[in-house]
Amino acid sequence: MIGVLVSGTGTNLQALLDARLPVVAVASNKRNAPALARAGDIATASFELADYEDRVARDTAMAEWLHAQGSRLVVLAGYMHLLTSAFLDRFPDAVVNVHPSLLPNFPGARAVEEQLAAGVSESGATVHLVDTGVDSGPILAQERVPVLAHDTAESLHARIKEIEHALLPRVVGELCAR
Ligand code: GRF
Repeated sequence: MIGVLVSGTGTNLQALLDARLPVVAVASNKRNAPALARAGDIATASFELADYEDRVARDTAMAEWLHAQGSRLVVLAGYMHLLTSAFLDRFPDAVVNVHPSLLPNFPGARAVEEQLAAGVSESGATVHLVDTGVDSGPILAQERVPVLAHDTAESLHARIKEIEHALLPRVVGELCAR
């Protein structure tokens, strides 16, 4: 059973739901994240850093809540904070992230803009296991997309997201079947 972490618009959460994967809980670091509205009847909760003493306290509470909902695999679907080992140790080798570049190239929150600025001809999406670093855990799957001459950050990100919406549910489905 899957717990999903979101911060933003939640199109990757939507792709997991559309694939009928067993999502049992959706948590966010932002109370007003638009992604939370996609959860429908699924349990949701927000864990804003400002409400806790520190990141370890927040991550511990978030991990406990997800675990209590039945989550055994956690998917970061546009979750924009680093996770501490207080969270990761609760779900050993079972936290995955989707990132809009061909990692290990262009980690971080501005990956799409940085790829355009660097003038790369090819981009892509990566699904990887999460560790305490920035987009640095072992890679599970990647797919490539071309960068076109007149791409903006918006048009390139939209092309990458199309790939993410197929790649992420496929890899998560495979992990569920382990
Ligand atoms: C995706 O591009 C994902 O790779 C990155 O954040 C974006 C989230 O988009 N980590 P959405 O919220 O799923 O629409």
